[in-house]
Amino acid sequence: MSAPSTVLVTGGAGFIGSHACVELLDHGYEVIVVDNYSNSSSQVFARVERIAGRFVGAVYDLDIRDRHALSAVFDRHTVDAVLHFAGLKSVPASLRAPVAYYDVNVGGTTALLGAMHEHGVRQLVYSSSCSVYGEAGSGPLSEATPARPAHPYAASKWTCEQILADVCRRCPEYTVLCLRCFNPAGAHPSGLLGEDPQGTPDNLMPYLAQVAVGRHPRLKVFGGDYPTRDGTAVRDYLHVMDTVDAHRVALDHLADAPGMHVFNLGLGRGSSVLDMVAEYSRACGRPVPYEVTARRPGDVAELVADASAVDRAWGWRPTRDLADMCRDSWRFQQLNPLGYAGSARGQKP
Ligand code: NAD
Ligand code: WQD
Repeated sequence: MSAPSTVLVTGGAGFIGSHACVELLDHGYEVIVVDNYSNSSSQVFARVERIAGRFVGAVYDLDIRDRHALSAVFDRHTVDAVLHFAGLKSVPASLRAPVAYYDVNVGGTTALLGAMHEHGVRQLVYSSSCSVYGEAGSGPLSEATPARPAHPYAASKWTCEQILADVCRRCPEYTVLCLRCFNPAGAHPSGLLGEDPQGTPDNLMPYLAQVAVGRHPRLKVFGGDYPTRDGTAVRDYLHVMDTVDAHRVALDHLADAPGMHVFNLGLGRGSSVLDMVAEYSRACGRPVPYEVTARRPGDVAELVADASAVDRAWGWRPTRDLADMCRDSWRFQQLNPLGYAGSARGQKP
């Protein structure tokens, strides 16, 4: 089987999805998107198309759980493979609303699988999460580390992985490449595309960016008493451009072997929250104000990838570091202080 040429991107208006659209268009793919804009904006596609110099094939405003609407998309387009990003991703929101997280993340994935199955589409790249490792412990986490989800968001991603693995065991014609992303961060180097969630960001880098641009007085550092070198939590941040490069490379490997194959995507290096504050301060040229507060419920001390398996399997490794992530995030934030909505009100990027 040859590499797919038409790719359905679920959640293609979101942070990773929008960068993935650019990556796919840049590499000659036809791109179809479904998204309900619950955490994004349709304005992003003008930017995607401006960067890529090509049009997205079609964009559908639909809920991933709406199996009939999804089926109509597969009726209209011959889809070769799916990149599945649509879902909810906030740890604190998942503690407040666990049912919604299972509904969207698990229900959305089974609805997608149903529509794929009905239309003979058997190739999926699933964007999973390092959060499935949860309380697994410190040190680099290989794909063989048993999952220990610490909150409903992580449990919903782990449940999806188990469903996908079971489908692959029972239906040998399926290939699922499950990419456990660590912490994607940064922005497209053009400054046109970045992370612009609805409401106040829960994730560290977009919040830090909004502090740096003056939208919030200071960053709250959640927890200064973790068993880490400076007491703040450690994560493995991966440039969003590396993240989507790996997803695009995954498409080339869908034909390698059927079944489910799981890979970590990370730098393999941990950075603390204070490391991130220091690097962002360098990027924006002034100290970013912060205060250390209580730990955030659901957070774990450290999540760092053993990122060697994807290198062994595909010869893929990231090429950008934390300084690149902070520089590109800051460029986007400076050019779009109010995000995409700001530009709609007349601020040109
Ligand atoms: P995002 O919120 O920016 O993008 C998700 C997109 O899905 C949004 O555009 C949103 O509107 C859309 N969406 C949500 N619910 C939907 C629904 N019911 N129907 C249709 N569309 C819906 O998040 P992101 O950071 O781009 O993450 C994308 C995927 O990658 C998620 O599945 C997430 O679990 C996974 N992931 C993200 C990270 C991260 O830190 N950003 C890390 C690991 C894995
Ligand atoms: C990073 C660190 C916070 C905001 C989750 C998922 C993971 C991945 C990324 C999707 C933590 C601290 C944050 C703030 C802070 N996503 N922080 N002040 O929680 O590591 O990971 O999103 O799958 O899988 O679990 O990401 O960016 O929210 O937080 O101190 O205002 O920054 O406590 O230690 P997290 P994050």
